Amino acid sequence: MDVMTAIKARRSIRSYEPKPIEEEKLNRILEAGRLAPSASNMQEWRFVVVRDPETKKELVPAARNQAFVGEAAVVIAACAVQTQHIMTCGQLCYPIDVAIAVDHMTLKACEEGIGSCWIAAFYEN
Ligand SMILES: Cc1cc2nc3c(=O)[nH]c(=O)nc-3n(C[C@H](O)[C@H](O)[C@H](O)COP(=O)(O)O)c2cc1C
Repeated sequence: MDVMTAIKARRSIRSYEPKPIEEEKLNRILEAGRLAPSASNMQEWRFVVVRDPETKKELVPAARNQAFVGEAAVVIAACAVQTQHIMTCGQLCYPIDVAIAVDHMTLKACEEGIGSCWIAAFYEN
């Protein structure tokens, strides 16, 4: 799949088949995030891969009761370990860097035939 095809095909998916995602597919998706550009090449992202059903269940109320969060085979919690760095333009690096990496992963997931949805409606704590 070329990039433009994936860009056009990707959309938010909120209903999932009850089956696991193959390890190789998941690794390719994570690799797409890992290869994303970042300011000063900091790569400050950390991706927490959640597959444990109990942990996913706990994420539902944390995500304002969006039930499909608990139904996804995998939840990738996109975090950052360096949250202070500010670019010359005055913007914080980490929300931009992490968002680019996540976007890479959603497009790769689309190519792999895996539906995904961004979640920002969640309580960080
Ligand atoms: C930063 C960000 C946060 C989002 N948070 C949520 C969310 O918490 N729950 C949800 O159902 N969709 C969420 N979305 C998905 C958007 O609603 C969706 O991308 C938008 O409506 C466009 O639809 P599409 O992704 O199908 O093109 C989020 C998207 C982005 C980019």
